[in-house]
Amino acid sequence: MNFYVNQVQHKPAFREAVYKGDIFLETSQRTAHELCALARHSITAAFDGETDHQSLHKMMPVETFVERVTALKRQFTNGPQAKALIRDFIREIGADPQDYIFDVPRVRVVPNYDYLHAGVSYAYKAHRDTWYGSPDCQLNTWMPVYTIEPEQTMMINPGYFERPVHNSSSSWSLNDWINVQRHKAKDNITQEARVHPVPLEEIDNQSEIRVAANSGEMLIFSGSHLHGTVANFTDKVRFSVDFRLMHLQDLMSKRGAPNVDNGCVDGHAGFKDFFHASDFSQFQGVNP
Ligand SMILES: [Fe+2]
Repeated sequence: MNFYVNQVQHKPAFREAVYKGDIFLETSQRTAHELCALARHSITAAFDGETDHQSLHKMMPVETFVERVTALKRQFTNGPQAKALIRDFIREIGADPQDYIFDVPRVRVVPNYDYLHAGVSYAYKAHRDTWYGSPDCQLNTWMPVYTIEPEQTMMINPGYFERPVHNSSSSWSLNDWINVQRHKAKDNITQEARVHPVPLEEIDNQSEIRVAANSGEMLIFSGSHLHGTVANFTDKVRFSVDFRLMHLQDLMSKRGAPNVDNGCVDGHAGFKDFFHASDFSQFQGVNP
């Protein structure tokens, strides 16, 4: 596996590298920094003007926190500004928005683990996004909104990129997740009752990497990498922004990372969450 720093720009072959497991860190994409600025603005708005975002969990009962985070996520994901910034990001890296579709942008909020680690702030166990129905060509982006430490970040475990993990994805349904489970996020406060696709074997964390980055410094990696949330035991809330890109031609011709263990069979159920980057029209899917 290779780790590239600030090399995506005008590198058309970066997708092929991502499909082989390479990871990119982009520290100065203007649009990434603007997405984080938008996230900060949205957090302030959702929490009644409070600007000490990393201490929000100390200011209110967890039920209120969950309510505000639910509103924050809805506003950020569905507002027009984040979508426009994703389109502009594609242009910024020298690519054509006509060639890409994207999954809705998301802001994630991970407070201290003992305060909340379920529902709207679910701490993802090690997983591949393909277990959740993502296509093999999915390009994941992820960036912290504030400077973070290794104890607060997300982990990627490249040792498993080509190594199968015994997992429960074959008995998990994306359709059920979208139509039933996702709406229950706010009801899961003390523990996560919703079923996720998870490893059914012990994960060796020897090759795990944790990138502690600054605001707007973006990781780009294959959604097929094994990755997950690092439980946050610090006293600061972790905020991050992520979105997923798919190159249309790669999707239609089934190019992408190798599928070593994914059993999810209804990934197409997620296509309605995908938008064309050129005009934000809803993606209609591909012919099988
Ligand atoms: Fe993921």
